[in-house]
Amino acid sequence: MNPRTSDRTETAASNLAATVSQRPPLPSLFDLHCHILPGVDDGAQTLDVALAMARIYVADGVTTVVATPHCHRFIHLLRRDILPAVARFNEELRAAEIPLQVLPGSEIQVIDTAEYRREFEQGDFCHLGDGRDFTLLEFNWQRELFPDDAEELIGWICDQGLTPILAHPERYDFFWEDISRVDGLVQAGAWLQVTVDSLIGNHGVAPSQAGHDLLRRHPQIVLASDAHNLKRCSGMAAGYQWVREHISDDRADDLLRRGEEVRTRVSQRVQNTP
Ligand SMILES: [Fe+2]
Repeated sequence: MNPRTSDRTETAASNLAATVSQRPPLPSLFDLHCHILPGVDDGAQTLDVALAMARIYVADGVTTVVATPHCHRFIHLLRRDILPAVARFNEELRAAEIPLQVLPGSEIQVIDTAEYRREFEQGDFCHLGDGRDFTLLEFNWQRELFPDDAEELIGWICDQGLTPILAHPERYDFFWEDISRVDGLVQAGAWLQVTVDSLIGNHGVAPSQAGHDLLRRHPQIVLASDAHNLKRCSGMAAGYQWVREHISDDRADDLLRRGEEVRTRVSQRVQNTP
């Protein structure tokens, strides 16, 4: 590992350790959205960075993550690309004796819903855990590219037997202006994934406020890190702690329980694979 990367990792890990030591103990944590796979998208660019991110996760109490590389117009990673990359990275984690389990998944951006359905039906997408329980979706940041029939697509995915989880709704400016626009997606069957960095203010004031509003508005929410690199790798514990301090212990416990439900369901295929 290069010395600069090593310094940053040690600083991040020691800051995290100091913070963690002040908190009550948490159960083993789970993250369903991150870009930890080395060299595949705009996440970890090298194996050293990916392993350093893994060590930060372990220091934070995280034992399982779903690697969710991008599947959008420019980086279009599919099941056939992701499964071998996850297997290779799990080998590297074992060799480095880092006790983190990485499951396959992807963050699928929807612009054209007909195109999404076609690739879905071809079996191209890597849903969470490479299973048929949960799938992670995002929209483009440009409001002009938000699909008019997004609610219909959410209903269609539910009809296929999967629960769509909408990544970081609190980060879209077209939702800030009217947070009730998310309601239709939830009513159609979507769960929401709020990002820890949004809550704790690392993406600015508006996403933190929108995340807070969504947590007050909808029960169907899970937290995730959307970690991309050593500067964007805040772990999970800080998010649950933020919810305890700003909303309630009950809400934090509910978020933990929902995260655990996702982990249980998306881990099944892995457990059943010899
Ligand atoms: Fe992401």
